[in-house]
Amino acid sequence: METGLLHTHTLVASLYTLLIIVLSFFIITGNQNAFTSLRLKLRWPRVVLEVVLLATGGILLNRAPDGLSVDYLIKYGLTLVAVVLAVVGFRRYQALPTILSILLLVYVFYASRLHDWRLRSVASRSAGIGELMATSPETQLVDGKQLYHINCVRCHGENGRAQYRKAPDLARFAKGDAYADHLLVNGLNSMPAFAHLNENQRLAVIAYLNSLRGEVQALR
Ligand code: HEC
Repeated sequence: METGLLHTHTLVASLYTLLIIVLSFFIITGNQNAFTSLRLKLRWPRVVLEVVLLATGGILLNRAPDGLSVDYLIKYGLTLVAVVLAVVGFRRYQALPTILSILLLVYVFYASRLHDWRLRSVASRSAGIGELMATSPETQLVDGKQLYHINCVRCHGENGRAQYRKAPDLARFAKGDAYADHLLVNGLNSMPAFAHLNENQRLAVIAYLNSLRGEVQALR
């Protein structure tokens, strides 16, 4: 669900940015006739894109597994400002507001998609739970569950199946403990590395991961 919504949101954001770039091009090159006729033609598509962009963004904001964060609100606010600037620039046939609008949209896009600063920065801030001395498989699972809730839930969800930001379904994870450990140490694409977890903590999380798959029924 979130994935479909995110795809729609990304698609609409790209189309909208493209539309603003094309219209701005005619303002910058001083081609007022072409601008005016294109602006009229694209008026409704533009309004629809604006509404869908802000609506899907708002829903994503509400559904974020890690709750509402300042970073999300800033991104949403910047998008809102970008939309207003574009509307003002087109209405007044001024290049500056539309260029600013493009820059803001590209920045928000870049921050959200390519570098994922927000998600990565939160990962490095999120804490472990101190040194773990797993004395039995049961306490290891308790530790693992706690670590999972601190570090992983916001993308993978309570049961491993949230699949937020293309995170795979962990209840189906079957690539083995060594792979999981490597992933936790190094990260992969938008999955951040969890360098602050020590070996025992990683083992505990992996044990909990295996329990999600139903191998260990306890603590589900
Ligand atoms: C910022 C979101 C995010 C967080 C937080 C996160 N993951 Fe992931 N995880 C992902 C994404 C995205 C992938 C897919 C990476 C890829 O293949 O490109 C992934 C992949 C995985 C995989 C491999 C699944 C497979 O089938 O290949 C495992 C295992 C995993 N994560 C475990 C964890 C654990 C354990 C934690 C907590 C310590 C965690 N993840 C935290 C986003 C996240």
